[in-house]
Amino acid sequence: MKLNGQTIVLTGASSGIGAEAAVLMAKRGARLCLVARREEQLREVQQRVEAEGASAAIYPCDLSDNNAIEACASQILAEHPQIDALVNNAAHSIRRPIEQSLDRLHDYQRTMQLNYMGAVAMTLKLLPRFLEQGHGHVVNISSLSTQIPIPLFSAYLASKSALESFTRSLQAEMGHQGITTTVVYFPMVRTPMSSKTKIYKYMPMMHVQKAAGWIVEACEKRPARISRPLGNLGSMLLAAAPGPITKLPQPLFRGMDQLLASRLKKKG
Ligand SMILES: NC(=O)c1ccc[n+]([C@@H]2O[C@H](COP(=O)([O-])OP(=O)(O)OC[C@H]3O[C@@H](n4cnc5c(N)ncnc54)[C@H](OP(=O)(O)O)[C@@H]3O)[C@@H](O)[C@H]2O)c1
Repeated sequence: MKLNGQTIVLTGASSGIGAEAAVLMAKRGARLCLVARREEQLREVQQRVEAEGASAAIYPCDLSDNNAIEACASQILAEHPQIDALVNNAAHSIRRPIEQSLDRLHDYQRTMQLNYMGAVAMTLKLLPRFLEQGHGHVVNISSLSTQIPIPLFSAYLASKSALESFTRSLQAEMGHQGITTTVVYFPMVRTPMSSKTKIYKYMPMMHVQKAAGWIVEACEKRPARISRPLGNLGSMLLAAAPGPITKLPQPLFRGMDQLLASRLKKKG
């Protein structure tokens, strides 16, 4: 599927992977609807898109607010007669042990509200247009860490797993009506999101440009899944033997955190 002339709604377009994906898709001639909260950053991405000779409209919106999503999606629908794809990329990540979350139910509510409800709400608003057109592609962004049982991200990963499950239902129910879906399972990527965790400073990560390329691939080739072989192996092992596969690697993860912390201490 060539992106040239396609209209793509991209959330989380003001920063990190979303901002780079916007520019890459612009290079391929896509028309973009860029959604995020920060208008100034969206404008900067819009200028980068326009420098590629493509066009982008910006829609500042808090995707954790249902009324704001309603208004934003209505405006997008009114301004674009055809919408070919929606990329639900906006998200918030929280790294916190469950034991330190005992009085923080709001962590789980916040991540679900944005990462899951925000993506579902935007999808539900655009679906009638997709059905009218007879086609529409939904890309939902998840994480390799839902494929491998890693500690410390319970609120974030639960919201991503919920989104994966919704994506499967969408494909199963509406595939025959021209709706296609892709789940993208990113590994760690060097962006403002991952940089919040100081001990990750010296952790090897995917480059943001490469991650943006995965979003382009999701829109062009429309596979059910884009992920690393390690993640696919993790999914298979987890399905086959959830007990040992959840338990056995835990010392490794704890060791890795200690190693990263001592590296940070040495190198600063
Ligand atoms: N970086 C990684 O290591 C990694 C790994 C696995 C998966 N992912 C996934 O990849 C995607 C992109 O992440 P990133 O690393 O590029 O993160 P990022 O640089 O922090 O970007 C997050 C984007 O989401 C937007 N956003 C956050 N809260 C929002 C809200 N309430 N309403 C509207 N937009 C909101 C932000 O824009 P505003 O602040 O302007 O609203 C920003 O554009 C996310 O789905 C993330 O979960 C990232």
